[in-house]
Amino acid sequence: MEKEEELQESSTPCLHLVSAFLACEPPDFVVSFARDFGGGSITERVQSFIWNVCINKSDVKCSLPYLKRFLKKLIVEIESNGDVVLDELYEKYIYCLASVKDDELAKGSTRMLRRFSFLFPKDCSQASSCQIFRKLEVMLQCSLNMLEGDTGCSIWPSGLFLSEFILSFPEVFSDKSCLEVGSGVGLVGVCLAQTNCSKLQCLYLPWESAAENELREFMPDIVLGADVIYDPLCLPHLVRVLAILLKREDHNLHHLSNGCKDYYPPDRRCFESEETSSAGDLDLSPRLGQEPVAYIASVIRTIDTFNYFLSLAEKEKLLVSDITETMKPLDLLPYVKSYQRSNVRMFKISYLHK
Ligand SMILES: C[S@@+](CC[C@H](N)C(=O)[O-])C[C@H]1O[C@@H](n2cnc3c(N)ncnc32)[C@H](O)[C@@H]1O
Repeated sequence: MEKEEELQESSTPCLHLVSAFLACEPPDFVVSFARDFGGGSITERVQSFIWNVCINKSDVKCSLPYLKRFLKKLIVEIESNGDVVLDELYEKYIYCLASVKDDELAKGSTRMLRRFSFLFPKDCSQASSCQIFRKLEVMLQCSLNMLEGDTGCSIWPSGLFLSEFILSFPEVFSDKSCLEVGSGVGLVGVCLAQTNCSKLQCLYLPWESAAENELREFMPDIVLGADVIYDPLCLPHLVRVLAILLKREDHNLHHLSNGCKDYYPPDRRCFESEETSSAGDLDLSPRLGQEPVAYIASVIRTIDTFNYFLSLAEKEKLLVSDITETMKPLDLLPYVKSYQRSNVRMFKISYLHK
């Protein structure tokens, strides 16, 4: 017989279980949170909790294909442990079996509502963001299929990372106008809307056909992008768009962040050294807020593609700095185990006026 106090509904495993389920995380991960919550096994009380709080929760209706996969994993796990499965779970699984065709699951093209809960620690080093936010929940309609025309309908790891970055450093965006390129389902935009940014634009902007005069009308202070460096065919267009947005004729400042790894054009490597700074021909002090910058989060899947991006950026006089280590965002999505945050790099890009 289980005791009431064995199940800590305010505990971290419980929070992670509910958050992972509502974010439609892979069932294996959700089941492992359920096991942790039950102290090693998925007890009847844990099953009741899953039934009442996850599956039967009135404000979020999980997609049936996802529920079918999840219940299958859950039931197999409980049975293989020799435990009793609640009737409600069996009945719901039978209902899913009858309602969802297998080819729908195989294609993975079904759109589903995913709810991402950004969990802010009570005490954290980035005090400002933890004071501003306690918990943020974002509901998005997306696809679990990342290919076959659904690329922009999925949530990509860099989008999660950039969202954590924005919520960790809201002051960076305060009073700034922001424009995101390749926004996908719009998670980054929703997070930006939580900051004190002055203007946030969401529009259809194909990089190939975006005209220079059209782009110049935006003049954002900050350009953002997540997982947009992947297609060599699109990169020249993306870099052209970035260069137009970041180049402001009335600026002759040089923007350089201290302590970060910078990708310089080979003939400009001296920019890195103190020697250049003392030579006095450059102002190396960062002047935040005066010059537009871009924050681009990216997973480097193919080094050749990334190097191609760097070479295009160099030709457009863009300085690409890796700030992943110097501006580390908080881990606000600890339950999203499908997202390998260590694979994502954050680049700050600015225009070199010299
Ligand atoms: C890999 S997805 C990333 C989506 C989103 N930023 C995220 O991280 O979840 C790439 C995004 O770039 C957009 N994109 C790709 N090529 C583009 C182009 N040539 N012009 C405009 N947008 C493009 C896609 O539509 C998609 O939204």
